[in-house]
Amino acid sequence: MTVRLEDEPVLAAADIQGNSLRGFDTKYLDLVGFKIDDAAKSRAWLRALADSISSTQLVHEHRIRRSAQRPKISSRVLVNAAFSKFGLDSLSFDTSEIEDGFLKEPMGSLAGALGDRVADGQPTDYVLGKAVADTPDVLLLIGSDDDAALTAQTASIVSSAAAAGLRKSYADRGNVLPNQIEHFGFRDGISAPGPRGLLAKNPPTPLTLRWIDPAEPVADLLGKPGQPLIWPGQFVFGYPTQSATDPRMPQAPRQAPKWMENGSLLVFRRLRQDVGLFRKFLSDTSTTLSQSLGRTINGDQLGALVVGRWKDGTPAILSPAPDASISSDEMRVNYFAYGGIPEIRVVRDRKVQTIPGHPADVEGLRCPHFAHIRKVNPRDQPTNKGQGEFTQLFQMLRRGIPFGPLYDEKPEAERGLLFLAYQTSFNSQFRELNTDWMNNPDAPELGNDGYDLLVGQNGDGAARSAPLHDSTANVDVQITAPAQFVVPTGGAFLFCPSISFLRAL
Ligand code: HEM
Repeated sequence: MTVRLEDEPVLAAADIQGNSLRGFDTKYLDLVGFKIDDAAKSRAWLRALADSISSTQLVHEHRIRRSAQRPKISSRVLVNAAFSKFGLDSLSFDTSEIEDGFLKEPMGSLAGALGDRVADGQPTDYVLGKAVADTPDVLLLIGSDDDAALTAQTASIVSSAAAAGLRKSYADRGNVLPNQIEHFGFRDGISAPGPRGLLAKNPPTPLTLRWIDPAEPVADLLGKPGQPLIWPGQFVFGYPTQSATDPRMPQAPRQAPKWMENGSLLVFRRLRQDVGLFRKFLSDTSTTLSQSLGRTINGDQLGALVVGRWKDGTPAILSPAPDASISSDEMRVNYFAYGGIPEIRVVRDRKVQTIPGHPADVEGLRCPHFAHIRKVNPRDQPTNKGQGEFTQLFQMLRRGIPFGPLYDEKPEAERGLLFLAYQTSFNSQFRELNTDWMNNPDAPELGNDGYDLLVGQNGDGAARSAPLHDSTANVDVQITAPAQFVVPTGGAFLFCPSISFLRAL
C-alpha cells in the first residue's frame, strides 16, 4: 500500500493554533505568563483574544508571503495561547477527564524525574514552575520579525490583560541568533518530522511540501530527504496517529476528551546554557583526547562528536569537516541514516536531481552513539524500544528559540534556550526523549551508549561520561564532562487548545 495525498486527513487549519503544526519561525518571540485573578473577566478577555490567535492557515500563508518578500522585514505579529491545568481550573473548566499525568503537575513536582537538580525534593535552579503558584495559568506566545512591533503589541496585550484580571507572572524574549545557531554555536532547527495532512482537499494541498520524485518507492514516506512524514495525531488531537511497525498505516487518534480536539500538548523548558563552561570543556578535553589518541583533535572536532553535526549543520556522519555544499542544501543537510542510505531523486525547480546516499555507521565511528542528535533520534537503528521506524513515534515538533545575548557580546548575561515542543503525549514523546534516552547513559541503541554530553542530565550535576572508539588509533577512550553546561530553570506542561475552544470559554 502507498499513501496517496487524498488518503491524508484534511486539517482544521483555521482552528488549530499556528505554532504547533506550522511554526511561527519569527526572529523574536515573547513568552508571557499570567495568573488569573478574576475568572469571569479573564474568561471574557480570553474569548475575545480568540480573534487575535494566529491559526495554522494564517501562519502558513504568512510564511509563504514572507519568503516572497525577503529581505523586507514583516511587522506582522503572531499570537498563540496555552493553558496549564491550573489555569483551566481557575476558569472553572472541568479538567477531571485529563489523563496525561504530566499535565496535572507543576514541572517542579517532576523535577527529580526529569533529571533536574533538586534539594529536599525542591528544584534548586527554577525561576518558574516550582509549584502551582509560579506556574503560568496562561502562557502567550507572541512572535514577530520586527522587534519594535512586537514590543508594542506585547505591551498592549499585557495591559489589556491586566485590566481583565490576568496578572503578568513571567516573561522572556527569545531572539534568533545569526546563522540560526543556538548559544553553543551550532546551527539548530534543521531536523524535524513533516506532519501529514491537507490544507485543502481540492486539489489536495499538503501542509508539508513533497519533494521526492514520485518514481521513488519511498516518495510517500518523506517530505524532503531525511524528513519522515508523520500522521498528524502525533502532534494534534483528533487525527490519525503513527503505527509502531508500519510507517504508512494510520492508527486511531489518541484517546482524549472532545474539547482537546484540534489542540496540542506543549512542553516549555527554560534551559540555561553556560557557554564559558562548554568552551572550557571543549578546549581541555580536546587536549587530553589528543594525548590519548596520539594526534591532534581540536575543539571543533570534539564539538561535532558531542552534537553529531559540525557548527554549520553538516552531519558528522556525512563529512569529516564542515562542508558548505551539504550544510547549505536543505535536500542534503538532513539526508542520512545510521544504517546507511541509498541515493534519492528529488524534483526541484521542475528538474529531477539526485541526492547522494552514504555508507552505514552502525558502530558510531563517524557519529558516536552519545552524540546529541543520535541520542534523541537514532533514526533507522533498533533501540531499546524496538525497530527503526518505531523511533518516529517519540518525535515532537520542536519550536524552541534562544534567549539572551551572544556570549562574546556580554559574557556575564544569562542565556539559553526557550525549549518548546508540541505533541499529543508527554509520556510517550517528551519523556521518552528526555528521560529514557537523553538522560540515560544505557540507551537507546547499545546499552552503553554514554551520556548525551551536550544536554543529558544525571540529577546531581556530577561528571558524565561517554565511550568513544577511535578507529584511526584503534583505541577506546572515555570522554568526561565534569559539569553540566545546560541547566533547566523551570517551565510548564501546557495544553494549547483549538481556537474554537477559546471562543467557547
Ligand atoms: C540547551 C539545550 C539544547 C541544545 C543546545 C540543543 C541543540 C541541538 C542542536 C544543535 C541540534 C541539531 C540541529 C537539528 O537537527 O535541528 C539539535 C537537534 C535535536 N534536539 Fe536538541 N538541543 C537542546 C535540547 C534538547 C532537548 C531538551 C531535546 C528533547 C527532549 C532535544 C531534542 C532534539 C531533537 C529531537 C533533535 C533532532 C535530532 C535529529 O532528528 O537528528 N534537544 N539539538
